[in-house]
Amino acid sequence: MENAGVQRLEEEFSNLEKECDSLKDEHKVYIQKLEELKSLQGKCISKINHQQKRYKILLSNLNRSETENVKVNELKKKITKNQFDCREMNESLPKENSLFLSVILGRVSVSLLTRPDRLSYKEEYERFKLNLSLITLIFAITLCFLIEQRFIDALYHFLLVWYYCTLVIRESILRQNGSRIKGWWVTHHYLSVVLSGTLLIWPDSITYQLFRPHFMTFSVYMGFVQLLQYYYQSGCLYRLRALGEKRDMDITVEGFQQWMWRGLQFLLPFLYLTYMFQLYLSYKLYGLSKHPQCDEWMVGAAGAIFFLLFIGNFTTTSRVVFEKSRKVFASRRQANHKD
Ligand code: COA
Repeated sequence: MENAGVQRLEEEFSNLEKECDSLKDEHKVYIQKLEELKSLQGKCISKINHQQKRYKILLSNLNRSETENVKVNELKKKITKNQFDCREMNESLPKENSLFLSVILGRVSVSLLTRPDRLSYKEEYERFKLNLSLITLIFAITLCFLIEQRFIDALYHFLLVWYYCTLVIRESILRQNGSRIKGWWVTHHYLSVVLSGTLLIWPDSITYQLFRPHFMTFSVYMGFVQLLQYYYQSGCLYRLRALGEKRDMDITVEGFQQWMWRGLQFLLPFLYLTYMFQLYLSYKLYGLSKHPQCDEWMVGAAGAIFFLLFIGNFTTTSRVVFEKSRKVFASRRQANHKD
């Protein structure tokens, strides 16, 4: 290389070196701030814990005392408000992992400290469900109408085992970060892991072949309902993001409530039909367990799981709808009174 060329490279390096020196200084500041942040987080966590403990004691003392007057009631209200503020502050602080997450992921922190981060994670979770629902729907349609091979069925069941395992982990992370997903839906996904595992190892027997068309039809229908669920959940998320920061806005903002109620009314018939289908499959499997050529324990096990899914889904969805309808009608009554 010519001398002039080497000199140019040297100049370029010297410029980069200067940039690198200033970068090192900035990085030092960054590390310092990180340490400050960690120590601030520790202080806030211990102060919040102290406040919460004291408020609990204060409230129980107030509840035990016989005096009921304006002052006592006022004090109780103030304590409840401060407890709520402490809970809100806690949401932006790191938390210890639940036992399940500690066992699976170890001590790595999965706390999402800001509301936009939490919403983005939830959106990503819904998109993941949408993509997998589309893949499983196409797979189920193929198995229902085009391919009938036990080996390909096994691939489908395996995909479902993997999908539900992943959902359980993602939902635990969401719950860790304040999501109000009902415990039943997580249990539902645990049961689905066991169910898909059972179908995966069910041998290619006469009972499997008798059950297969019913299960594949159910899978196609469920894939379709999962797409409808996605449009409902992503619509809720989109509106919540648009509404802003407050966590309890979803229950108070009327436009949101109306949209949610309309979406729910549209979705419900499809959901209840799914539950009836699950009950039917459980009945079908019970009948197959009495078949003279039935030797497999998988028939009874899958039937029992479908029945559990029917009971849990039916009661949880009905409870959610009942609670939501009470809130919607109460807020409508309030609005009518104001007019
Ligand atoms: N799976 C995962 N998360 C769920 C959920 C489900 N089935 N149902 C509700 N959630 C989440 C919501 O997104 C919300 O999360 P957030 O706190 O992070 O915002 C939280 O749980 C509270 O939701 P909630 O207000 O109780 O209900 P909703 O209005 O979001 O949804 C239903 C109500 C009935 C539409 C919904 O629960 C549902 O689709 N249930 C049927 C599921 C089912 O039966 N699946 C099997 C057959 S396909």
